[in-house]
Amino acid sequence: MDATEDDRAVEGNRPRSENERGLRPFDLTGDGAHRLVHGDVLDLTSSLACDGLSGKVDLVYVDPPYASDRDYVAESRLDGPADGRIVRSPAYEDTWTSRPGGLGTYLDMLAPRLEALAGLLGPRGTIWVHLDWRAAYLVRSILDEVLGRDAFLNEIVWRRAPNLGRQATSGQFGRTLDTLVVYGKPDATLTPPTRLEPIEESSIRWDEQGRPFTSAPRGDYTDASIAKLDLEGRVHRTASGRVYIKYFLVKDGDGVWCRERRVDALWTDVPPLRHAAASERTGYPTQKPRALLERIITCATPPGGLVVDAFAGSGTTAVAAHALGRRAVVSDRSPVAIATARARLLREGAGVRIERAAGTVAAPETNVTVRSEPGDTRDALRVTLVEPSEPMAWAIGTMKDDVFTCGWHAERTLGAKAVAAQREAVVPRAGAEVVRVWGDDGSVTTRPVASALR
Ligand SMILES: C[S@@+](CC[C@H](N)C(=O)[O-])C[C@H]1O[C@@H](n2cnc3c(N)ncnc32)[C@H](O)[C@@H]1O
Repeated sequence: MDATEDDRAVEGNRPRSENERGLRPFDLTGDGAHRLVHGDVLDLTSSLACDGLSGKVDLVYVDPPYASDRDYVAESRLDGPADGRIVRSPAYEDTWTSRPGGLGTYLDMLAPRLEALAGLLGPRGTIWVHLDWRAAYLVRSILDEVLGRDAFLNEIVWRRAPNLGRQATSGQFGRTLDTLVVYGKPDATLTPPTRLEPIEESSIRWDEQGRPFTSAPRGDYTDASIAKLDLEGRVHRTASGRVYIKYFLVKDGDGVWCRERRVDALWTDVPPLRHAAASERTGYPTQKPRALLERIITCATPPGGLVVDAFAGSGTTAVAAHALGRRAVVSDRSPVAIATARARLLREGAGVRIERAAGTVAAPETNVTVRSEPGDTRDALRVTLVEPSEPMAWAIGTMKDDVFTCGWHAERTLGAKAVAAQREAVVPRAGAEVVRVWGDDGSVTTRPVASALR
């Protein structure tokens, strides 16, 4: 990570109480940093409401637990590919039916959170809830109740895995699909993207101007629409007078003629995470592919729009929003999720403000020891991190009003080809008050440099 990115990493831990959740006010006109909150969905929603952001959010995307009745573990690779050592940290729980109250407890968790999130939407805002067969039908009834049946926009089906192995031989149709339930406020409009569909050479025709096209029957186009398309040169009449619509063709990257088709509610063209680059795979369980979030954010928000994800996991929504020039406010109650999202955002060069809501249980702190090295001077601090020996990340910086400002930091790279964080640091002594260490278990430990020196 380069120095510029370090400079942008401004983080707050245990912020002074500014509202009942202990979170600092969030100003949309502020420093442009994204916001990452360690806390429950309701901590985030009430804090945003206090900050006057109710009715200002363009997109709420959430990927909550699916009622899958299992608990999830995050895996961090320490030594790189395949034969590397793996640290496993409990990430989050999704066990409901064995609890007293069964699935009802899942609904009791989800319904008030979706209602609070829907309350943040602006007049053109949409809420997307990512689930699978287990809970999609439940969420539709919750959102029918919260926003009204007329607010329903789409139920998008995303093929998240190929129909292979156990799925294919299960005696059922393979459960290889996720569902995205989409509701919108009255002025909401989505702009579905287009995709290129290769056309067989034999179906290609050429018009008088030498433009390639393919044609299809007029379908349900009205006479008025046909007249309009005629003016655009897009109507083809056969010798017998039958009307067809012309679709002009474009070449794809391989030089193949394609028809541009608008994507419908069946998404088979966003590959599963396992097909993504190794550097994208964080090891956080149930991580979604960035391409999926990029599609959602692009079609549902204007440039510069505000995106909220309150079940953030590894931070996919925030990373995609950052890449697309949107502002992201994301939260999760798992410390492992916050650690993972933080590392991803910084790696992308995003400015991020990190906070913890009052009452949220943090992972226990760890011992931190640094060793002074030859070359340590009055102006420069030269140290090696001794303990912990394999941090997820560590940093040296200053602390003012409980806000940590990072002067130098090193990260283990995420993903399947992990490279350990650099252990030696050389920093100007003036900017070296505290050392902060992030662990795989989500722990964040901050010590004065003087007390960590051995
Ligand atoms: C399916 S994962 C999200 C994965 C994410 N979309 C990604 O791409 O990495 C669900 C997340 O919801 C979080 N979560 C569960 N209950 C929560 C709650 N009440 N408040 C905040 N986060 C919660 C879990 O810790 C978990 O990280």
